[in-house]
Amino acid sequence: MYNETLSVFVIQGDNMKNILIGVTGGISAYKSANIISKLKKKGYNIKVIMTKNATEIITPLTLETLARDRVVIDMWEKKSNYDVEHISLAEWADLILVAPATYNIIGKIANGIADDMLSTVISAAKAPIYFAIAMNVNMYENPILHENISKLKNYGYNFIDSDEGFLACNTTGKGRLRNEDEIIKIVETHFNYKILSGKKILITAGRTEEKIDPIRYLSNKSSGKMGYSIAKYAKELGAEVILIAGPNSQEDIKGITTIKVNTALQMYEKVFEYYSNVDTVFAVAAVADYRAKDISKNKIKKNDENLVIELVRNPDILFEMGKQKENQLLIGFCAESENLIENAYKKLEKKNLDYIIANHTTYFSSNKNKVVLIDKNKNNIEFDEANKEEIAKKLLNKIFNI
Ligand code: CTP
Repeated sequence: MYNETLSVFVIQGDNMKNILIGVTGGISAYKSANIISKLKKKGYNIKVIMTKNATEIITPLTLETLARDRVVIDMWEKKSNYDVEHISLAEWADLILVAPATYNIIGKIANGIADDMLSTVISAAKAPIYFAIAMNVNMYENPILHENISKLKNYGYNFIDSDEGFLACNTTGKGRLRNEDEIIKIVETHFNYKILSGKKILITAGRTEEKIDPIRYLSNKSSGKMGYSIAKYAKELGAEVILIAGPNSQEDIKGITTIKVNTALQMYEKVFEYYSNVDTVFAVAAVADYRAKDISKNKIKKNDENLVIELVRNPDILFEMGKQKENQLLIGFCAESENLIENAYKKLEKKNLDYIIANHTTYFSSNKNKVVLIDKNKNNIEFDEANKEEIAKKLLNKIFNI
């Protein structure tokens, strides 16, 4: 999810996040200098707490210079202001990254020990905490560590597992601090995660069913999977999601308002209840273009003649949204069995869309998809075939510049 656009976003926006970096006494403590320097260059506010042991490996002066701020080590150091420092630091942090995180610090936090500045701040913090594990391979393999990690995970602490490689203790194995860029990427992904908070997104999904008689209907093979995958990821990114779904067998998504409908007319009605209040629409539903003019009250009986059912046009919900568009970002889908791009361009224009996502009808009801994202200037981006969850992520990341 990380790309260079994000770093620009962080530097230029109001989102100057506060990252508190805890440095403990593993040999890879020297790598924290690189992490601090890179995060600082990206525009984050950085404060550093070192344990006493860490100061044996890298000098506070080095980290202080890179962080452009005083490094905190001692709980009882005299200061010019009267803040309770461990509390104010805990409150200041939007995220705490402990890198390297030794066997010792993980053990202390897991067992409620707060006997120095870093362990005290972590224990008082409400911010998300990431431990980037680094230690000797035998310590790494000690089951006590894994008990502590799993206990902490249950309390919501996050871990950046170590890599395998040549270790300072002259052996090869697991315990090496993860590459600095990967650690930074995980931190940035965390911040990026809620990038859609405050946005309201309306999504239509699934098929519609247009009744002919009490037991028969006109419909199509759409599974709803693509729309539900978009809904799920948009929710994960912090958006408020309203999902208007035709019949499908997808599981409900926790935290999403899901409105179930059967017919195109019902979908149309529900969409326009919400449309004027949303920022973005993904029209993913495979809406039936026609419905029976008259629905037979009783089961239609066969006879020797051919059966003719008169069909009338359903409203084109997306076309109507395009007509009434104010500030909404309007994204349509387009399923074609031939002339994919040509037809997609026509629908993009006709329905007044900001983006159209073109896919081949062979992916209907499949778990996979292969799509082309087309913007309103007709720039195309092709995505390789992947499962629908992956495609949903790629589409949203592209559309929202994540
Ligand atoms: N759509 C809609 N209401 C309809 C038909 C389609 O909102 N009655 C939306 C779909 O959700 C999709 C887009 O319009 O986002 C294109 O749908 P598609 O079925 O590919 O095309 P149609 O416009 O129905 O055109 P055709 O069936 O002729 O290909």
